[in-house]
Amino acid sequence: MNLIAVVGAGTMGNGIAHVFAQKGYKVNLIDTQHTALEKALQTIQKNLDRQISKGSIDEANKISTLNNISIFESIELGVVNADLVIEAATENSEIKKKIFSLIDQYAPSNCILASNTSSISITQLGAVTKRPEKVIGMHFMNPVPVMKLVEIINGDQTSLVVTETIVKLTEAINKIPCVVKDFPGFIANRILMPMINEAIIALSEGVSDANTIDQIMKLGMAHPMGPLQLADYIGLDVCKNILDIMKEGFDNTKYAPAPLLVEMVAEGKLGIKTGVGFYKY
Ligand code: CAA
Repeated sequence: MNLIAVVGAGTMGNGIAHVFAQKGYKVNLIDTQHTALEKALQTIQKNLDRQISKGSIDEANKISTLNNISIFESIELGVVNADLVIEAATENSEIKKKIFSLIDQYAPSNCILASNTSSISITQLGAVTKRPEKVIGMHFMNPVPVMKLVEIINGDQTSLVVTETIVKLTEAINKIPCVVKDFPGFIANRILMPMINEAIIALSEGVSDANTIDQIMKLGMAHPMGPLQLADYIGLDVCKNILDIMKEGFDNTKYAPAPLLVEMVAEGKLGIKTGVGFYKY
């Protein structure tokens, strides 16, 4: 693996570009919006400065990391020489399928195609390509430079050699791979999202206020963030999308998003990114 293309320069895409570039890989960061690419580079610089101020990297590492990243506004040009493409676009099945079909057209035939999806079926993404055996899930956690886990998802046709390659690559960037099967929500969100949803239901029933609910989970369960604070951090629209995908995928209303969550998303209260969620920012 020499050249990694990352499609989508949002929170997850810029974090993924950051960690690979920092480990010496050449990264093509791709987004059709030039402003998104500029913002991503600024975020990466800010996070590298944060690492310098904590003493975990030096100035030379910052410069080499930034030098390893090239930006592209088209998938066609950005993936053409890639050994691995990691798609980190919006969590929407139709958008991801369109992107996968385009990547499949332009990436070299031996290139592995990964998705950073948090809940969408890898088998279905593989089905829109001519190389389903080379399609796999690489689910990074936010903030990517900090979180150790990469949840690796095998689609029905993902080959063993592709899984082994991605496991080794994950270890090479100093993260821990955990391999799972292709089920709605995989493992991380199948367990995380019902907890967040239950906290929202408890809040709407008036069992306690947001701060107390979060304190209980932080102090009692040693979670770094309470579930409502974490929902604001992830984005309430993302939480709702994932719950909808699990409800549909399992055909089970136990995953139905809490009415308060649905209401807040409709009102545009999406958490940190809009300045209002369960807390104000
Ligand atoms: N880039 C680089 N470094 C970062 C960073 C970033 N974006 N954000 C934080 N850091 C570093 C800090 O520099 C600091 O480094 P040191 O340990 O060297 O001092 C460390 O991370 C801790 O940060 P802070 O001291 O600023 O703050 P904190 O102790 O409150 O930790 C946190 C912040 C790491 C975000 C912590 O609150 C946490 O772990 N929260 C839970 C995060 C989580 O659950 N993520 C998963 C969400 S689910 C998901 O992503 C997937 C999905 O499908 C929805």
